[in-house]
Amino acid sequence: MFKNCRRVRKSTFLQLVSMCCILSVLMVCWDQVDHHVVSHVKSYSYRYLISSYDFINKSLSVSPKEAAQFGSFPFLLNNENICKDQDVLLLLFVKSSPGNFKRRRAIRSTWGNESYIKNELGVIVKVVFAMGVHPDIPSKIIIQKTLHKEHMNHGDLIQQDFLDTFHNLTVKLLLQFRWTHENCAHARFLMTADDDVFIHLPNLVHHIQDLGRQNVRDLWIGHVHRGAPPIRQKNSKYYMSFEMYQWSSYPDYTAGAGYVVSGDVAAKIYQATLSLNASMYIDDVFMGICAILAGVSPQEHVYFSGEAKTPYHPCIYEKMITSHGHADDVRYLWKVATAPQVQEISSGLLGNLYCTAVKIMLLCKPYNSNTYSCMAAFT
Ligand SMILES: *[C@@H]1O[C@H](CO)[C@@H](O)[C@H](O)[C@H]1NC(C)=O
Ligand SMILES: *[C@@H]1O[C@H](CO)[C@@H](O)[C@H](O)[C@H]1NC(C)=O
Ligand SMILES: *[C@@H]1O[C@H](CO)[C@@H](O)[C@H](O)[C@H]1NC(C)=O
Ligand SMILES: *[C@@H]1O[C@H](CO)[C@@H](O)[C@H](O)[C@H]1NC(C)=O
Repeated sequence: MFKNCRRVRKSTFLQLVSMCCILSVLMVCWDQVDHHVVSHVKSYSYRYLISSYDFINKSLSVSPKEAAQFGSFPFLLNNENICKDQDVLLLLFVKSSPGNFKRRRAIRSTWGNESYIKNELGVIVKVVFAMGVHPDIPSKIIIQKTLHKEHMNHGDLIQQDFLDTFHNLTVKLLLQFRWTHENCAHARFLMTADDDVFIHLPNLVHHIQDLGRQNVRDLWIGHVHRGAPPIRQKNSKYYMSFEMYQWSSYPDYTAGAGYVVSGDVAAKIYQATLSLNASMYIDDVFMGICAILAGVSPQEHVYFSGEAKTPYHPCIYEKMITSHGHADDVRYLWKVATAPQVQEISSGLLGNLYCTAVKIMLLCKPYNSNTYSCMAAFT
């Protein structure tokens, strides 16, 4: 009896001591305990203390007529036959901008090369580029001409008549889900990605083929942000007013740089957009709002990056799915990441040990904010 009591006291005492330790370490590490940390703590507690985000439905619901207005811009470039009569495994929307000719060219000849995917992987992936119009009138006219030519050659541009600006990204999101609903509803998976993202298509295809075999539903994978706080500083790119979003924490969402949903989720998200106020201009947060209505939650995949750029190493290439910030080295990365010797690099006990060690070195450093999480070293 006495012994028990003492053991209990001892463990509580240890708990207390370790709590204090952790707290003081936190305080020391973050010597700038500023509003940044405070707002994160606030939003995290909000995220984990409230049981649901149902209130979002009530306050952001609008009538179907009002909701339709957010995305009802006429199509300037389109190709309704992209998916027609084909067994599309993945419809991949690249969020591009009218002037990004070079990025699109690089994508088409690397990870977005549909014939390579068909020949090498034996599946049909459709890569299309979503955009609005150039915000600047004189440039717009010249760029539209060039876009017409590009579309004649490739037939893969989907353009609506809205200004292609940062604050219209949610309009672009609406475009993607509407277009999918109207023209490619049978695609088994839908992905959306930035045009400066590198996607390891072979790794991605193998992953979703596995998921497809298990008939997964309600799938939404990517780099998940949980309990992210709205930014209230007016000078931030991501500034969010209280009128637009009054709560302390965003619903969970995946980084807009690249995420994948299953076909059933794409359909549900589209349905959700039909009754929501889409003035929330951060498109990935808006996706999180739609997902609440759709009853879907995002799942973390350690090899999807957020803002992060992958370390360049074959042990990473073997597993990577997306990496952000590759406007200039897509061709190089495609070449090294799909080289035949990469596939076997971690096979066998030695290979496995070697790659685990390399990944721990690369990913498990303190203050490692630029890349996949340390967890990726062990998967
Ligand atoms: C796409 O890949 C095929 C090989 O499957 C290749 O012949 C073709 O040149 C590539 N296309 C581009 C634009 O690089
Ligand atoms: C979004 O596009 C519409 C239609 O072109 C335009 O009127 C509006 O100003 C744009 N919004 C922003 C924030 O750029
Ligand atoms: C949508 O929300 C904004 C505030 O973010 C508001 O100004 C606007 O009136 C709302 N639109 C509709 C149709 O309710
Ligand atoms: C959201 O609210 C609308 C009414 O405003 C209701 O018809 C709908 O069922 C609600 N959806 C969810 C998922 O709660």
